[in-house]
Amino acid sequence: MKKHLLSAADLSRDDAELILRTAEELRSLADRPIKKLPALRGRTVVNLFFEDSTRTRISFEAAAKRLSADVINFSAKGSSLSKGESLKDTALTLEAMGCDAVVIRHGASGAPHRLANSGWVRASVVNAGDGTHEHPTQGLLDAFTLYRHLGKRHAGAWQDGALEGRRIAIVGDVLHSRVARSNALLLHTLGAEVTLVAPPTLLPVGVETWPVETSYDLDGVLPKADAVMMLRVQRERMSGGFFPTAREYSRRYGLDGRRMATLQDHTIVMHPGPMVRGMEITADVADSDRSVIVEQVTNGVAVRMAVLYLLLGGSEPAVSTGDAGSIEPFETTEVAR
Ligand code: NCD
Repeated sequence: MKKHLLSAADLSRDDAELILRTAEELRSLADRPIKKLPALRGRTVVNLFFEDSTRTRISFEAAAKRLSADVINFSAKGSSLSKGESLKDTALTLEAMGCDAVVIRHGASGAPHRLANSGWVRASVVNAGDGTHEHPTQGLLDAFTLYRHLGKRHAGAWQDGALEGRRIAIVGDVLHSRVARSNALLLHTLGAEVTLVAPPTLLPVGVETWPVETSYDLDGVLPKADAVMMLRVQRERMSGGFFPTAREYSRRYGLDGRRMATLQDHTIVMHPGPMVRGMEITADVADSDRSVIVEQVTNGVAVRMAVLYLLLGGSEPAVSTGDAGSIEPFETTEVAR
């Protein structure tokens, strides 16, 4: 593993599978009454959020706390950032206080790279979404969710290569979606076949260099897909008109009950959130048995725990398997104190 996680392209297949296996060990914690491990005790994780977020911010916070790290949450609103302080001065402040990992979300594509490569901080930098560029931990939690549903298990564990040849459709506003970009790269690394489905106006320039197929025909793609990932139309990043009307968009590219009926029995429906019900996905689809949207959120915590644990130097299994050298969970009494 590299020191920072800035892009899904930073991950080799071995790195990605190590994170997913570690997340699988850690996920079992979510079912325990005491959801805490001492693995990052004494370490400090800063959540630096310059853009709005619900899921990602609280997911990183929960992940760091479940590993016993100290967590500092820093959002643009209510800080000196709203007084015009620069990323550099914010970074120098964090460095002066001492932190081991900085989780950053920023409206500018490339901001996490700037932070990681500037020498302003010594910490590991994790990209939690930069502009329309990348969101690698979302890609990882989506891959993790796909492994859990589509992966073949052998003796209770996944077989590596579980996504080999699986067909994943990513549908909607690909142009503005850092989720789509990170997923396309990562799922390709893991051997899946990705098809991006969008109107021509919502596909990025240069998409032909991505390791994916593209299509404008959702009805043609759905029956072949093993998973369908719907994307929100990101109106806050749109200046012009990218499609005639919301109704027209939903008619061509929305997932409704009629379209869902054309999916194979095992096919799952995903969405990174936040959803606009009635736009890219109807409520009956979002709430159906095929939908794994809530599970994606649960999986996000386990995956982010794995990322923080591995970036901050964990080389042993995160959860005790009874082997010598692995980290024991807290004794109940110790947590209660
Ligand atoms: C996405 C994001 O912020 O990139 N959401 C998320 O992190 N779960 C997608 C979106 O905003 O539509």
